[in-house]
Order: sequence, then structure tokens, then C-alpha cells
Amino acid sequence: MGIKKKILFKFLTDDVNPVFQPLLVNRSRYLHLFGGAGSGKSVFASQKLIYRSIRESRHKFLLVRKVARTIRHSQFNLLKAMIYSSGLSRYFKITDSDMLIRNILTGSEFLTAGLDDREKLKSIFGITSIWVEEATELDINDFNQLDLRLRGITNSYKQILLTYNPINVYHWLNTKNFQDSFKLKTTYKDNKYIDTDYINVLNNLKEQDSEYYNIYALGEWGTLKNIIYKPFVILESYPEVPDEIIYGLDFGFNNPTAFIEIQIKDKCYYLKEFVYKSGLTNSDLINKIKSFNIKNTDCIYCDSSESNRIEEFKKAGFNVFTSNKSVKDGIDFIKTCKIYSNTENVNINKEVLSYCYKQDKDGNIFDEPIKFNDHAMDAIRYAIYSHSKNKPTTTNIRLIG
Ligand SMILES: Nc1ncnc2c1ncn2[C@@H]1O[C@H](COP(=O)(O)OP(=O)(O)OP(=O)(O)O)[C@@H](O)[C@H]1O
Ligand SMILES: [Mg+2]
Repeated sequence: MGIKKKILFKFLTDDVNPVFQPLLVNRSRYLHLFGGAGSGKSVFASQKLIYRSIRESRHKFLLVRKVARTIRHSQFNLLKAMIYSSGLSRYFKITDSDMLIRNILTGSEFLTAGLDDREKLKSIFGITSIWVEEATELDINDFNQLDLRLRGITNSYKQILLTYNPINVYHWLNTKNFQDSFKLKTTYKDNKYIDTDYINVLNNLKEQDSEYYNIYALGEWGTLKNIIYKPFVILESYPEVPDEIIYGLDFGFNNPTAFIEIQIKDKCYYLKEFVYKSGLTNSDLINKIKSFNIKNTDCIYCDSSESNRIEEFKKAGFNVFTSNKSVKDGIDFIKTCKIYSNTENVNINKEVLSYCYKQDKDGNIFDEPIKFNDHAMDAIRYAIYSHSKNKPTTTNIRLIG
């Protein structure tokens, strides 16, 4: 068996979820991988590109998202992880600084560009296939622009891989008539690697909101209803000297931990996403937050249910407070505030679009938000609302420094 065949044989039999295996050789111009959360879409997209980079030669794969800054922590890191976990690292040269990956057997390359970086996008020539991650972030003009870039004679077939959740039945991804396309819907049930905690989170959605459950657990096109906040206004830059800085912290481990900085100026709030990451232990998190050089007089408002973790933060010298517990009052207050975001706050901007009140099967809407993709939203509410009350619960208050 030749070296390429050997590599591919191992890769296929060991690593790719069965539902996706036939798509390794699917040649449609538009390959839609859509469906529920955690179904393995992104992992498969990276696997397919690695597979093609070995089997075919001299590719220039473009990894695209709406915002350039988000590519490193999603597509780029995922490709790297898949290359390492499949034992293929000796066949690739990875340059972290430029986010470049090159298959040294075949000369195929992976490049990255955000649609917010038109200059870089224009400067990349000879693209042979594209992977658009979280494709619902793109508008139709973004897509058309990419589509135009994929032309000319190439060694192998040209394909645009689109990975996304079906969040809006009226989205162009659903309504546009794609010629030469193939669409595969998957759910967590198609992913043999998904963990049981995450399955429970998805199954819990059934009790909370049927539309949400349809989209994220069943992978069906839906429309998010009862959205709580209007999207935060996006600014290019924030005031240079804020009146005050506060922080909101929602603890997670399997779920992401969200640590958000909020600058306050003339009663307006300006958000900055500092941490949004799963798998951080409390000491990882403390070390990470220490690296931001936060003043020990700046207030950090935390999830009130995590007293042990809060204690450790106090011991580490942070000025932490438990947040006010009233979710309803907090949300109502946030709705009255002027809150601004920027394009770098990828997870904040994403969560706000799908942060909804619960609705039961009979159409009754509740005052509570759905507990899913709500980590940055919680952190923001903890900080802004609790700070406005300026009456944190006394048990956990200790000003340090
Ligand atoms: N082939 C695989 N090998 C190993 N782990 C996998 C594989 N496919 C999926 N997983 C695991 O399942 C998790 C979810 O997969 P992935 O992120 O691809 O889902 P997704 O469909 O893109 O989810 P979302 O809709 O939330 O973006 C991954 O983080 C990984 O841990
Ligand atoms: Mg994904």
C-alpha cells in the first residue's frame, strides 16, 4: 500500500463518524453540513479538508468566518487538533503566527481569512476550496463574494463547505436555490464521540422550549422566538477613558466560563469578551484572569451559586462579589441600558441573537431565559445589574487591596 493510501485508510477507519464517511468523496460545489449542536459537523469539515490535502495535491483551502479573529480558536485550532490526534503531524508544517498549514507530502495549503478583512481576502489567489464555519453569520453578499473567488482551473473539484445550525427558516442558506449542492442534516445522535453531559444539556432543552429543542437537539430549521435583548450596537472603538470598569464572571467547566469586562462611561456600557472557554479549572481561570492585570479594587460580579470558587478568587486577591440573584429583574434592567459591543466579542454577539425566554408547548412564555448558550449573557447581567444595585449580598463581600 502506498504511503498516502496507508494514511487515509487509518484515518477513515479510526476517526470519521460513519454518517459523514460517504461525504469524504462528495464533489458537489456546495456541501451543506447543518443540524443540531454537537453533531460533529465542524470536526468532519476539518477531516474532509485533511483527507483532500493528502489524497489530492496543490490545494489552497480557505478557512473563512465572518470575523477573522474567530478563526484561530475555531477552524485553525480544530484542524491542528485533528492533525495531531490522527497521528499525521509529521506530514504537515504548521505555522502558528500566520495561521498557515501546509501538507508537505502534497504541497496543499490551508489559509485563513475573515470577511471583515476584505484586503486579505482579495490578496489570496488560486483558492481551490473553501470551508465557511458558522455560515449563518454571513449575509448573502458575503457568500456571493466568496463564491466568485472560487473559479478557474484546479487540479481537483472545487467545493464550498458550509457548517451551521439551522437557526432561521428564512435564512438565505435555506431559501436560496443552490445549484449542484448536497445537504446533510445531522444531530448529536450521529456523533459517536459526544459526551453524556452534553447530551443531557440538549435533552433538557425539551422541557425548556420546543423550538430551541427542534433546532439544537433535532437539527431542524426553526425560528428563534421570544428573543430577550435587541442585538447590542456594534462600535468600531470605545471611549478612551471610562468612568469605571467592572467585570462579570459566569463559572463553567463543561460549559464555557465567561469573563466579561464592562467599561462604564456616561451611563453607557461597553463590553469586552476576555474569556469564553470550556475546560478551565478554577486555578487555570485565576491565572488567566491575573494575566489581564485587573486592579484589585475593580469589582468582579460572579455567579452566586459557586461559593467555593468565589472563595478561591478572594484568596487570590480579587475584589469579588456574588451577583444579585433576581434573573427577571436583572434582565429587565439590562433592557433599559445602553450597551455596546464590538466585532471582536464573537461569543457575546452570537449569544445575544439566540438568548430567548422559555415557551412551553401550549405557547405560554415564561420570564426565565432558556439555559443554553447563555454564559456571556449571565456574566453581563451579573455585573451590570448587581453593580447598579450596589448592594451585593453581605456574606461574600470582602474588599481587598
Ligand atoms: N470524528 C471525531 N473524533 C473525535 N471527536 C469527535 C469527532 N467528531 C466529533 N467529536 C467530538 O464531538 C464534539 C462536537 O463536534 P463538533 O464541534 O464537530 O460539532 P458541531 O456539529 O460542529 O457542533 P455545533 O453545531 O455546536 O457547532 C467535538 O468537540 C469533539 O469532542
Ligand atoms: Mg461546529
